[in-house]
Amino acid sequence: MAIEWDGSARQLHLQNGQVSYVLRVLEDGSLGLLHFGAPLAAGRSYRHLGRSGFAGFSNRLDDPIALDYPTAGGGDYRMPALVIQQADGTSVLALRYVSHRIVPGKAGIAGLPSTYVESADEATSVEIRLADAPSGVEVQLTYTIFRDQPIIARQARVRNGGSTRVRLTTAMSASLDLPDSDWLLLQLSGAWARERHVTNRRLAPGRQSTASLRGASGHEHDPSLILRRPATTETAGEAYAFSLVYSGNFLAEAEVGPFATTRVRLGINPEGFGWVLEPGEAFNTPEAVLAYSAHGLARLSAAYHALYRERLARGSWRDRPRPILINNWEGTYFDFDEAKLVEIATVARDLGIELFVLDDGWFGARDDDTTSLGDWMVDRRKLPNGIDCLARRITDLGLGFGLWIEPEMVSQQSRLFAEHPDWAIGVAGRPRTESRQQLVLDLSRPEIVDHLFTVLSEVLVSAPISYVKWDMNRNITEPASLGLPPDRQGEFFHRYILGVYDLYARLTAAFPEILFESCAGGGGRFDPGLLAYAPQAWTSDDTDAIERLRIQWGASLLYPLSSMGAHVSAVPNHQTGRRTPLATRAAVAFFGVFGYELDATNLSAVERAEVAEQVAFYKAHRDLLQRGSFVRLRSPFEDDGNETAWMVVSEDRRQAIVGFYRTLNRPNPGVNRLRLRDLDPARAYRVTPWPAGTGTVERDNAAVRGGDELAEIGLFLDVDRHETAGQGDYWAQLFVLEAE
Ligand code: GLA
Repeated sequence: MAIEWDGSARQLHLQNGQVSYVLRVLEDGSLGLLHFGAPLAAGRSYRHLGRSGFAGFSNRLDDPIALDYPTAGGGDYRMPALVIQQADGTSVLALRYVSHRIVPGKAGIAGLPSTYVESADEATSVEIRLADAPSGVEVQLTYTIFRDQPIIARQARVRNGGSTRVRLTTAMSASLDLPDSDWLLLQLSGAWARERHVTNRRLAPGRQSTASLRGASGHEHDPSLILRRPATTETAGEAYAFSLVYSGNFLAEAEVGPFATTRVRLGINPEGFGWVLEPGEAFNTPEAVLAYSAHGLARLSAAYHALYRERLARGSWRDRPRPILINNWEGTYFDFDEAKLVEIATVARDLGIELFVLDDGWFGARDDDTTSLGDWMVDRRKLPNGIDCLARRITDLGLGFGLWIEPEMVSQQSRLFAEHPDWAIGVAGRPRTESRQQLVLDLSRPEIVDHLFTVLSEVLVSAPISYVKWDMNRNITEPASLGLPPDRQGEFFHRYILGVYDLYARLTAAFPEILFESCAGGGGRFDPGLLAYAPQAWTSDDTDAIERLRIQWGASLLYPLSSMGAHVSAVPNHQTGRRTPLATRAAVAFFGVFGYELDATNLSAVERAEVAEQVAFYKAHRDLLQRGSFVRLRSPFEDDGNETAWMVVSEDRRQAIVGFYRTLNRPNPGVNRLRLRDLDPARAYRVTPWPAGTGTVERDNAAVRGGDELAEIGLFLDVDRHETAGQGDYWAQLFVLEAE
C-alpha cells in the first residue's frame, strides 16, 4: 500500500494492489481524476488518461474532463461538490492546487464518526490543499487508502481564509467523475418495516439520486450508492460502492453528462443546507467510504463488512460475543409490572437466554405512546421498587439487564415539556407537527445535550445495566433552532446530528461496558454513522421471518452480521399476520445478532424445548454467525423471489453454516442444487442439516462432501415427491459444515 507522488506528471497514485485512485493536478491547477478502480502498476505516469493540453474550461466549455471535487461557475455544468456564497453574493469558485502531504495512518474528524486504524501501517493518507485566491476559501481533501481492502475513505475540510464571512450551501464529502455511464444504480430503499430492499435502475442522462430531508438517514434509503455493470453478479463483474458515514440528511447522486460520463456525489444534502463560516472558521464534511470490485458485489460487501466491523465500530463490545437477548416489546407492549417481567426473564434464563431487555413504557406514566418521553424516572405504578430492584432481580437470575431509552424525544404530556416547552424543535408562530404523539428535542443546542447526558447518566449508574437500546421514533418537522440566529438556520439539521453524536460519544465514553444498540423505529437510522458508537442496530421493526429475508439480504450489501439485530417473535406475526414455523424464524434470525421478542411465558412445553435448542445452537456457532464472512447465494429479489439462500464461512474456511429458505411450497418441484462458495476445495466437510428431520433433503446431504463438490455441484435441495406436502410454506433448512 502506498501513495506515490510523481512530480513531473503532477500525479498522486493511491494503490494497494486491490484498488487504484489516481489524481492529477491539471495544467490550470484544478484537481483531475485520472482513474478510480482496478489496481494499476505503481511507478508509471497515467497522465495520458486525462486530456492532453487541457487549458482549463475557459476555452472548452462542457469538456468531459474527469474532476475530483469540482466547483461551479467555470464552465463545468455538471453538479458541483462545493458551492460557497461569498460576500459579493456570487458563488463562482475555482479551487487550485496549493500543496499536499502524505502521512502514515489516518486521522479522525473532530465531532464526526469515521473509520480508523489501530496502527499507522494499516493505512496511508494524503491531504491535498486547494485554494480559491479571490475569495480566500481553502479546502483540504483527505484521502486514505487501507492496506487490506479495496477501499478509499475521503473527506473535505473547508476553511474561510478570507476576510469576510462566506456561506457554504453545498459541501459534499466526495465527488468524482467516472469515464462512462454503462451502470445500474443499485440502491437500498423501502419504508418502515421493509427497509433496504435492493432496487436496480439503469443510469440515464441527467441526475438520479436517493436522499433524505428527514433529519435522519431514514427508513426510505440507505445513505449509499452502488454502481454495477448490467452483467455484474455476486462473483463477477465490476462494481463501485459509495457509503456515507452519516446519520442525517444526505444526498447520493449519479449524474450522467452529455458525453456519457458519470459524476457521483455523496454527502450532506444541499437542500436546505447553509453553513456560515466567519473568517478563520472551518467546516468538516462527514466521511465517504468508496470501494471498487472487479469480482462482483460479494467482494464489495466483504470489504465493507471487515472495515465497518473492525475499523468503524469501536469500544469494548466491538469484538466481544454479543449476548442472546429477549426483549419484552412485542411480548407485553406497555402492559407489564415487575412480577410479569421477572416471570419472562425466569423462563428466558431457563432456556439459556443471556440478557433481558426492558423496552418502552418503564418511565413517567407511560401506558401508551401519548405521554412521558423526556421524563426518565421510573414509573412506580408498574415498578414500585424501581429499576434498580428489577435489574438486580434479573441479574440475580444470571441474566444481563438492558434498558430502552429514546433520548431525543419529548411528549407534550411530560414534566420536561411543561418545564421547557421551548426545547422542542419548532418554528415560532407555527404549530408543531406531531408524529407518534411526540416532538423532537433540539439537540443542536449544547445545553439540551448536557441535560440529556446528566439525566441518562443518572439512570445508567442507578442499576446494573449492561445494554441500552437507543430508539428514535420520528423524523423532524418545522426544522429550526432557537439557538441559532436567522442567518444560521441552514445549519440546524447538521448541528442536530452533531448533537446526537456528541451525546452518543459522551455516554459511550462514560459507560464503556454497556453494549449500545441503535434503533429508529427499526431501521430508520441504520447507517455507518451510528455504527461508530453502537456496534449493533435493530435492523427493522418487521420481525416476520419471510420479510426479514429481504431486509437482511439488502442490509448485507454493506453491513456486517454483527451489526444486525435479528429476533424471533410470536405468531401470528405482529407486522404481517403470517404464521411461520418457529424453526424458520430462528433460521433467519441466526444470521445476525440473535434474540427473542416475545412473552416467553406463553411458549408451550414443546416450543420451550425448541427455543432451548435454538439458543444452544446459536451459542455453539456464535463466533461464526457474528464474525464469519457472509456469502449471498440466492437472492429474494431475483427470479420470483421464492427462494433465498446464504451462508457464513469462518476465516479459516473450516466451518460454515448455509441457510436455505423457501417462501411458498410448490408441488412436484424441479431439480434443485445449491452451489456454495468460499469453501476450501481441497477439504472434506461433514454436512449436518438443522433442524434434524427425516426428509430427503436432510438424508441426502447428511454426509461428508468435498469442498469442490459443494462448490461445483452443490447441496441437494430436491424433495421426494411424497414429502413436498409435508413441508408446507415458509420452510427453512440449515446445513452446518465442519471440515473433517
Ligand atoms: C420502536 C422500536 C421498537 C420498540 C418501540 C417502542 O418502534 O423500533 O422496537 O422499541 O419503538 O415504542
